[in-house]
Amino acid sequence: MPAISASAPGKVILCGEHSVVYGFPAIAIPVFQVQSRTAVFAMPGAAAGEVRVNAPAIGLLRKLNDMDPTDPLRQTIELVHEELGIDHFPSCEIRISSSIPAGSGLGSSASVTVATLRALSSFLGKPFNDSQVNRLAFEIEKLHHGTPSGIDNTVITYQKPVFYRKDFPIELLEVNAPMHLLIADSGVAASTAEAVRGVHFRWQKDKAAYDKIFTAIGNLVLSTRELLETGRLEGLGDLMNQNHRLLQELQVSNRELDQLVSVALTAGAKGAKLSGGGLGGNIIALVEKEQIESVTNALIAAGAAQVIHTQLPFVRGMK
Ligand code: PMV
Repeated sequence: MPAISASAPGKVILCGEHSVVYGFPAIAIPVFQVQSRTAVFAMPGAAAGEVRVNAPAIGLLRKLNDMDPTDPLRQTIELVHEELGIDHFPSCEIRISSSIPAGSGLGSSASVTVATLRALSSFLGKPFNDSQVNRLAFEIEKLHHGTPSGIDNTVITYQKPVFYRKDFPIELLEVNAPMHLLIADSGVAASTAEAVRGVHFRWQKDKAAYDKIFTAIGNLVLSTRELLETGRLEGLGDLMNQNHRLLQELQVSNRELDQLVSVALTAGAKGAKLSGGGLGGNIIALVEKEQIESVTNALIAAGAAQVIHTQLPFVRGMK
């Protein structure tokens, strides 16, 4: 029997990270240059119900029943059982691969979860719809990140730019002008859960100051949405710069991220900011088409571990 497989993109947050956890809006976009893939192979010769999980990149090759019960991958597979009301899986191997670096704000956990939910439900003959995938992936994101806003699973499930606000209907966005973004990895792995906990701790100590910052970021997100939808991208870089300064005030930036932001701007980017939880991970820089190469080179020379170029609206086949 041939394998049934599914893949899912990565993502970056364009604006609104952290404040989104407190109910303000944020915008995220899928990044198709990185992705994860899950393939499910039937193992007719294996013991009845044997499920093997194989993720070579993280050195994992185990029977499902031998995995730690709290392992998010095991929980993902068990959630599929529950959702479909299935007691026993047919024996199979679940093979997972991903080109998304973990802990870099590119949504690696949500991407692996979404690909796995889609592949497994298809393998079992009952492919989940987007809303099921999104709901279940959110449950698994909680295991990874504690109190996630839900933005990662949403953008990765729907594979479209999203305007996201907790507890509000999902809004998919059209970007009506070509927009080039460089995503530069600081090479510092960071825990989103830790960054979110840090902000929460400081918010509890000074709610008035933090609420003011969240409100300011929320307003930047509304302005960004308007620029994207009307295709007037001239002011976008400035909004990104303001957003980065507010994230610095939230104390989620660090020396490496500030350095990459400043290198990108000096090399001619229209705007730049950290993206995601911060404390490491990526920055994003808005560039004109003609500047892609020079800004990329400057970022690499400044120590970026990797620079990805992505474009909106996304054109399939683009690298
Ligand atoms: O680090 P990332 O890209 O997974 O993004 C986290 C975004 C936060 O707003 C900091 C947390 C969240 O759950 O929305």
